[in-house]
Amino acid sequence: MDKEKQAGLQEKVRVEFESYSHNEQFARVVTAVFMARLNPTMEELEDVKTAVSEAVTNCVIHGYEDRIGTIRMELSCDHGQLTVEIKDWGMGIGNIDQAREPLYTSKPSRERSGMGFTFMETFMDSMEVRSVVGEGTTVTMKKQIGNKILEKKVV
Ligand SMILES: Nc1ncnc2c1ncn2[C@@H]1O[C@H](COP(=O)(O)OP(=O)(O)OP(=O)(O)O)[C@@H](O)[C@H]1O
Ligand SMILES: [Mg+2]
Repeated sequence: MDKEKQAGLQEKVRVEFESYSHNEQFARVVTAVFMARLNPTMEELEDVKTAVSEAVTNCVIHGYEDRIGTIRMELSCDHGQLTVEIKDWGMGIGNIDQAREPLYTSKPSRERSGMGFTFMETFMDSMEVRSVVGEGTTVTMKKQIGNKILEKKVV
């Protein structure tokens, strides 16, 4: 297969940005541009952008708290399967199972609702969290994009 045909089936981009809260918008836009090549529905686009916002906000608010650190986002696709990996080198999570529970938040006083991980899980097909206290957190989410379009073409 020639190089340009291969692109779109299997490819990867990686961006790094600082943990300013306005970079949540930057991450959403980069995600939308990358997804455009996968022919997403509006719903798929909105679902992934919401999951990305939640993951990046967590790096900003929890991972780095009051300091500025680096957030790395890697987007890859493999025949319509989108993988989004969002990584920080912040404080890490002591109890991942507890953190993933709906309504659990370590910052109730900051008016967080504790629903970020639950949204990521709901809007994506899968979500994995790896974290080491004092070293940082990596969230990996996957979603098959464009299924509905394929199904329509087959029928
Ligand atoms: N990147 C991260 N670094 C450190 N801790 C994290 C990170 N992401 C999540 N956590 C921990 O997991 C908890 C649950 O995260 P979740 O996104 O579900 O809720 P929240 O951020 O507290 O509230 P919400 O997302 O609804 O505003 C957080 O309160 C925090 O303690
Ligand atoms: Mg959150």
